[in-house]
Amino acid sequence: MGVLEESQSGLVPLPESARAFSHWAISQVVKPGEQVIDATAGNGYDTLFLAKQVGELGRVFSFDVQQLALTRTREKLEEQALDGRCQLILDSHEHLARYVQAPVAACMFNLGYLPAGDRAVKTLWPSTQKAIVSTLSLLRPGGRVSICAYPGHTEGRQEAEALTKWLKTLKEAEYTALHLVFANQTENAPQWFLIERK
Ligand SMILES: C[S@@+](CC[C@H](N)C(=O)[O-])C[C@H]1O[C@@H](n2cnc3c(N)ncnc32)[C@H](O)[C@@H]1O
Repeated sequence: MGVLEESQSGLVPLPESARAFSHWAISQVVKPGEQVIDATAGNGYDTLFLAKQVGELGRVFSFDVQQLALTRTREKLEEQALDGRCQLILDSHEHLARYVQAPVAACMFNLGYLPAGDRAVKTLWPSTQKAIVSTLSLLRPGGRVSICAYPGHTEGRQEAEALTKWLKTLKEAEYTALHLVFANQTENAPQWFLIERK
């Protein structure tokens, strides 16, 4: 999954999911030694991906409100001896500026609930919005914020709709903002958003 790979034919196919688009977009801008954020650690796949991107001298700050998510994330990192470059923080991402200082090269939001976990604990637009605003204040020029949203459940749909609306308020002179919908999938299919600081 993830970054675009050349197929046997020599052609490079498009990413087939919102998450694959997110890894593709983030891999393009993160340089070894930089600081990045995983705003929703969950099962640790994105933190693991980010840990590889920043290299030995980089730093990943990963947030989640559930200890179970951070435990699963730590296990994944330890398996590959990448835990030393990651700080796992049991707090809501709306408080991320308490832990992270500029400059940040990238931030990933994978919204919703923890797969194989408590579905009642899920991201909600008011705190998601605060976290995105905080991240933008830390982002270096050329840095990116990627957001995967899941309109298949009520709060997820509200989040995706609110985010779509809010992105229109970002100044074009300062940010490039994208919203990707898979037009030939169901309306519940995950959507992907990207903000790049100019
Ligand atoms: C879809 S999962 C993330 C998947 C993860 N990035 C991965 O690679 O496995 C969403 C996570 O967001 C977490 N979450 C919900 N509200 C949060 C908040 N306010 N701050 C940080 N994390 C939150 C949930 O506990 C859940 O683990």
